[in-house]
This record gives sequence, C-alpha cells and structure tokens, in this order.
Amino acid sequence: MDIGRNDKCWCGSELKYKKCHMEFDERLQELKNQGHIIPPREIIKNKEQIEGIRRSAKINNAILDLVSSNIKEGMSTEELDKLVYDYTISQGAIPADLNYYGYPKSICTSINDEVCHGIPSEDIILKNGDIINVDVSTIFEGYFSDASRMFKIGEVSENAEKLVRVCKECLEKGIEAVKPWGFLGDIGAAIQDHAEKNGYSVVRDFGGHGVGIKFQEEPFVPHYGKKGTGMVLVPGMVITIEPMINEGDYRLYVDPKNEWTAHTKDGSLSAQWEHTILITEDGTEIISK
Ligand code: MF3
Ligand code: CO
Repeated sequence: MDIGRNDKCWCGSELKYKKCHMEFDERLQELKNQGHIIPPREIIKNKEQIEGIRRSAKINNAILDLVSSNIKEGMSTEELDKLVYDYTISQGAIPADLNYYGYPKSICTSINDEVCHGIPSEDIILKNGDIINVDVSTIFEGYFSDASRMFKIGEVSENAEKLVRVCKECLEKGIEAVKPWGFLGDIGAAIQDHAEKNGYSVVRDFGGHGVGIKFQEEPFVPHYGKKGTGMVLVPGMVITIEPMINEGDYRLYVDPKNEWTAHTKDGSLSAQWEHTILITEDGTEIISK
C-alpha cells in the first residue's frame, strides 16, 4: 500500500507524492506513534474540493444574509423556510437539511428554550422578545456548507441579550483555538472555559462535525473538553464549530411529538452560533458564517 515518492499523491491533486502530502504523512505517522488520534485520509480535502466547498458556502452565506434582512416579528418560521427553499433552488442548490434522515424542512429554527432542530411551522409566529437560531446548510454541485446565526426579535431581555453575545464569543474563541497540528480538544476547552466563566453550560449531546463532501463527516467536534486531547487537526480539514450554550443546565430532552426538536430540560434559554471553517497551513479560514 506504500506510495512511492514519485507516484501521484493520494489526495487527488495529481502532484507527485513527495511534492504533496509526503512530509504531511510522515508528521502524522509520528504523532500516531506517540499515541495521538490522527484524521483519516477521506476527510483531508484537496484544492479542488475546497474550491467546491467555498462555492457552496457562498450561497449558504447569501441565504443567511437573506434571512437576516427578512426576519421580523409576526412572521411564521414556515415563511422563513419557504424563503430559504425558494432562494436555494433559484441558485441551483439544494437545502441539505431537507430529507436528511427524514427531516421535513429546509432549515432549523430553534427559539428560546429550543437547543437545536426546531422545525419550521406556520403555527410558530415570531414574537417580541424571542431569540431564534436559524441553521442553514446547502448542497451545491455535490459540496456541503453549514452555518447558523442568532436573531433577536424586537426588544429582548438583558439575559437573552447576554446569552446570545457570550455564545458568539464562545464560537470566536473556539475558532481562535484551532491551530494546524493542534488538537480537537483545544476547541472544546476554549469554548467551555468561556461559557462556564459566564455562568452558562455547554450542550454535550450535539456538536460540530466535519463537512464538505458529506453533510456530517468525521470528526465529531465536542464544544467542551480538554486541551491537547482528541484528533490532531491538520491543513485540509473542514469542520463546523457550533456551540449550543444554555443559560441553565446543559441537559436536554427531545420533543417526543416530532422526535427532532431538542429543548433544555430546565426550560432555560439556549443559544447557538455556527461557522464552517477550513484549517490551513498557517491557521484557519472561515468558509461559511
Ligand atoms: N445544520 C445542522 C448542523 O449544524 C444539522 C441539521 S440536521 C437536520 O449540524 F436534519 F435537522 F436538518
Ligand atoms: Co453543523
């Protein structure tokens, strides 16, 4: 199975192995020998794949901008869903959520105590004081992108305002913690530290994920954890970071009626922000936000 120095690289770049991923593989092998978890080759993207993911993300970002300029008090989450569906299709793209494990809609709209996977409905009307996460994922020419933002409807309480802000800071700190040849656990440690310092808790049952060629790839990205642990992060990996931060306890329950929507167990508020990021040779690039 060994690739010769002058053979074509396994990544699909068409370059000779010695000019492409040879040193990279040697460095990974060393880390593996030291007992670290190393990423499988399938999740290391080449240039062409990264370009494809960027094109998908461009549409995903435009969709979130469209949501941002249309979302308002009195509208239903179904209207948001339709807005996203129609625009996505007009761009020659497909909402990745739609039919994903049977998910019935194009986006997730999670309000107040809903942690994630809120299902749009004409019966759910946005009202003054709500905080809502709109999570949008797009497939374009076979490539996947994924991001979500929080929106405040009208005047929200001071505590809601703070939760939304701190959650965004958690995402930013998680991204700052990403270093090529660093560790997955560095991300969760940074997020957990900031959330808990502010008296909040980090959701355990859901996390970020690899993305790009499939919707949810390896690795699972926990938003809590310990520095220097978990999978080694290397250039060419594309992952989401999407902390769900609760005002109260981190525990959840899933609505037995739709088997999708997760709520905080204690009824407290929950917020979430999500970006898709690429790990580069010298840091990170935010691909979808
Ligand atoms: N977009 C979500 C994420 O950020 C996944 C939604 S899956 C769905 O990982 F089926 F609920 F749409
Ligand atoms: Co995601």
